[in-house]
Amino acid sequence: PAGAPDKALAKKITKVGVIGAGLMASQFALLFVRRLQVPVVITDLDQARVDKGVAYIHDEIAALEGKGRITQDEANRLQALVTGTTDKSDFADCDWVIEAVFEELGVKQDVFVEIEKHIAPDAILATNTSSLSVEKIGAKLAHPERLVGFHFFNPVAVMPLIEVVNAPQTNEVTLSTAMVVAAKLRKNAVITSDSPGFVVNRVLAKLLGEAMHAVDTGTPFEVVDHALDSFGLPMTPFELLELVGLKVGAHVLDTHHAAFPDRFFESENLHKLAEYGKILERDVKGKIKGF
Ligand code: CAA
Repeated sequence: PAGAPDKALAKKITKVGVIGAGLMASQFALLFVRRLQVPVVITDLDQARVDKGVAYIHDEIAALEGKGRITQDEANRLQALVTGTTDKSDFADCDWVIEAVFEELGVKQDVFVEIEKHIAPDAILATNTSSLSVEKIGAKLAHPERLVGFHFFNPVAVMPLIEVVNAPQTNEVTLSTAMVVAAKLRKNAVITSDSPGFVVNRVLAKLLGEAMHAVDTGTPFEVVDHALDSFGLPMTPFELLELVGLKVGAHVLDTHHAAFPDRFFESENLHKLAEYGKILERDVKGKIKGF
């Protein structure tokens, strides 16, 4: 990957478009409006999802005001800057569009092909993919050079890192804009190459995959979950899997296994847990019951 790009090349962002109104997208939409102070428009498959995302952001802004972090005036102003829509033509004047839709290559490709019909040819496109190839996500675009990976971590408000994925087709203006936007969001940005899992998920998938494999090969969940308690991790492996989302976690493991079958495990149990929705009941202190 290239070193730091020339900041002078960065495009000025005057309006942000967010595709997807799920928890990850809503969390970073909040960050965009708070730190860039520009209009942020959010879309999803239907009005109910859009409304849920906008309501989350409005509630979080109200909570910031409740904690005294922003004034009532600022809260009102930020809330007014966030709008929801199911009409993609509302993205026409966005100069930065970022997506966090379902982690499937075809879905992400289609989302970008559709949005490209509505935006300027030099508007920047960003994907929050956690492990898919950014090059492949942009493969059907008329202007793939304006697509960059922009990978947030959960919880977005707290985790300081963004991986800026420099795909082979990403041009300098796009990379520069991504770095400047990340700095405005007050995040530490690192430029990674476009390889499966980039850096962080490659390492986390190893940790979580090995933890899951230990369970799959007979060590009880609760033993695996707490075995690393004294090794300085901020969360146990299965707490982290639940934070990331079991379905997302299973998908990330599968992507790594497909890319590096000799280095990453698949776990049928993880897929079963993802269907079930949670790992195990925990007691009031958050410890897995029975441990
Ligand atoms: N959402 C929003 N804010 C949260 C939060 C959450 N889930 N959890 C904690 N916070 C906030 C708290 O509100 C608090 O904020 P204030 O100071 O403003 O009140 C602040 O974080 C600290 O809270 P705690 O004292 O409870 O924090 P903690 O010391 O227990 O740390 C943690 C919480 C930061 C989440 C920590 O446990 C941690 O770093 N965990 C690891 C998280 C991680 O590895 N994330 C990456 C997952 S991989 C991923 O996301 C990428 C992917 O593609 C799959």
